[in-house]
Amino acid sequence: MSITYQLSIIAEDDPYPKYKWLRDNDPAHYSERENVWVLTRYEDVSNAFRDWKTWSSNRRGNLLNDMPERVGKTLGTMDPPDHAFARGLVNKAFTPKTVADLHTKVKSLAASLSSAARAKGTIEFVADISAPFNAAILGAMFGVPDEDFIRLRHWLDDFFLREEAQPGEETKQQIAMRHLRNYLDELVEKRLAQGEDDLLTAMIRAEEDGRHLSREQVVVTTMTFLVAGFESTNNLFTNLTHALARHPNLYRQVKANTDLIGAFVEEGMRWDAAAQGFVRTPSHDVTLHGKVIPEDSQVLLHIGSANRDERQFENADVFDIRRDTKRHLGMGQGIHFCVGAPLGRNMAYTLFEELLGVSENWQIDLAQATRVTTPNFRGFSRLPLRLA
Ligand code: HEM
Repeated sequence: MSITYQLSIIAEDDPYPKYKWLRDNDPAHYSERENVWVLTRYEDVSNAFRDWKTWSSNRRGNLLNDMPERVGKTLGTMDPPDHAFARGLVNKAFTPKTVADLHTKVKSLAASLSSAARAKGTIEFVADISAPFNAAILGAMFGVPDEDFIRLRHWLDDFFLREEAQPGEETKQQIAMRHLRNYLDELVEKRLAQGEDDLLTAMIRAEEDGRHLSREQVVVTTMTFLVAGFESTNNLFTNLTHALARHPNLYRQVKANTDLIGAFVEEGMRWDAAAQGFVRTPSHDVTLHGKVIPEDSQVLLHIGSANRDERQFENADVFDIRRDTKRHLGMGQGIHFCVGAPLGRNMAYTLFEELLGVSENWQIDLAQATRVTTPNFRGFSRLPLRLA
């Protein structure tokens, strides 16, 4: 077997044997077809995440074939000192209290969506649970009304597509970005005129040594939060649902002892990472495993593979909720570590606690399921689920 990395591998039912081949045989892989270097070993991925001076997020962005109009404007596509300034202000606005304040809403929504699902019996997990749950929570955080959020949803979905641009035509992701930007620009205008008790207002007001985020930064940062929050959580939730349905013993174990939910979510993030990889760009030539990765090339730090590296995790292919998962890279590492991690975790713990509480067993219909096809994320855009 010899593997050339293709962006579509991410949407295969089981891409993990291919990642293993790359780790063992070509850990600094260059895919000419996709014009991307791929680092698949834990140690290399982790070192790169922690060394932003060598591995820049700002030169070409952090998504595969990132859009030039995003680069340098979103948190994920900045390097220090700009990143430190923006992240510091975002941290001031998005605090542990933000998550704590949202918890009552998270809990009541998780409970009502779960009992509605139980009453229905057979549901489509994304449309019936994940999308309304994420929309309501992220909407509440930013003061976006639920009905607007559902309207924004298809732009959020399109945002991560990476279509080739046709001459003279906008791609779907450019159209999505334009609509989201216009919508958020109007919302910022309203909050500037009259503040509310929401994250948008908190970001507008956050200040460091007399400096604020610019209006453009507030709009683009909010956009990143919405797309990052909406897509990542959906992918995490669908992967966790899939993992539970595929491992009936695990389902019984976690249901019998809900104290295990935290461990289940963490091991789920390791075992089948929702964010499978982010891009970095070397600020100078880097020699790794006998190859020279040229300055300014696009390099994918493969989280999905690193999390299954047996050099780091014993029996890495086994879903084992008893293992020590502290070092998994499912939420990144270093200065760009996921800013939404406390919220994402809180939502996942609460949702699965409620869902497990209302059902005895689950079956998913994989034949009718559809996988997400964006090149950085792995999960389902449609997942039929029967609760009994
Ligand atoms: C629950 C599932 C989630 C997963 C698996 C996830 C994963 C990640 C990962 C791997 C990164 C690092 C990106 C990089 O290094 O280039 C990241 C960054 C980020 N995430 Fe999340 N995320 C999740 C939820 C959220 C939520 C709920 C929000 C917002 C409410 C969010 C907002 C962000 C932002 C703004 C960044 C950029 C941080 C920076 O560059 O300083 N994420 N996320």
